[in-house]
Amino acid sequence: MDETYTLLPTAPPLDDYLRLRRDSGLTPVTAEQGAPAVVGAWSACHVVDGAGTPVAMGRVIGDGGWYFHVVDIATDPTHQRQGLGRAVVEWLLADIGDRAPAGAYVSLIGDPPGQRLYRSLGFDDVAPSLGMGMVLGAGA
Ligand SMILES: CC(C)(COP(=O)(O)OP(=O)(O)OC[C@H]1O[C@@H](n2cnc3c(N)ncnc32)[C@H](O)[C@@H]1OP(=O)(O)O)[C@@H](O)C(=O)NCCC(=O)NCCS
Repeated sequence: MDETYTLLPTAPPLDDYLRLRRDSGLTPVTAEQGAPAVVGAWSACHVVDGAGTPVAMGRVIGDGGWYFHVVDIATDPTHQRQGLGRAVVEWLLADIGDRAPAGAYVSLIGDPPGQRLYRSLGFDDVAPSLGMGMVLGAGA
């Protein structure tokens, strides 16, 4: 990440959170879903470009004790492959390392675009376990 970018230790504003999820290809969420998300994380950061526009973000939800889940890792497509995603995940891991008791378990659901990045930072497949999820209210 070059010096035109600045990493800030907060989630981005709600409108930017919604935009970054949508434009990066993550499942879009509503403002009603996003509003608690941007204030409710255990840890969060985002990166602004030289004009102050948020262009990358990430959050950690967790209990502060030992269980931490990395979510919302996204970089605006026009700013990808410049080290922003790595800077975001490294900052989040460092924050967990600084503030959590030793032995924190850090998990994530690794979508294909991020898998190489996550592996390079030490994340490993959880096989034979499976990542599992569901969307409440969306079932048949
Ligand atoms: C995954 C994602 C966040 C990565 O963001 P990014 O800012 O592009 O990440 P980085 O630039 O740190 O690293 C991505 C790649 O760029 C490469 N890269 C980093 N700096 C670079 C540079 N200066 N020049 C060229 N390539 C560079 C990295 O080596 C890495 O390559 P690899 O994936 O082949 O290992 C981004 O692709 C994204 O938003 N994807 C869509 C949303 C998504 O799937 N998020 C993950 C959910 S789990």
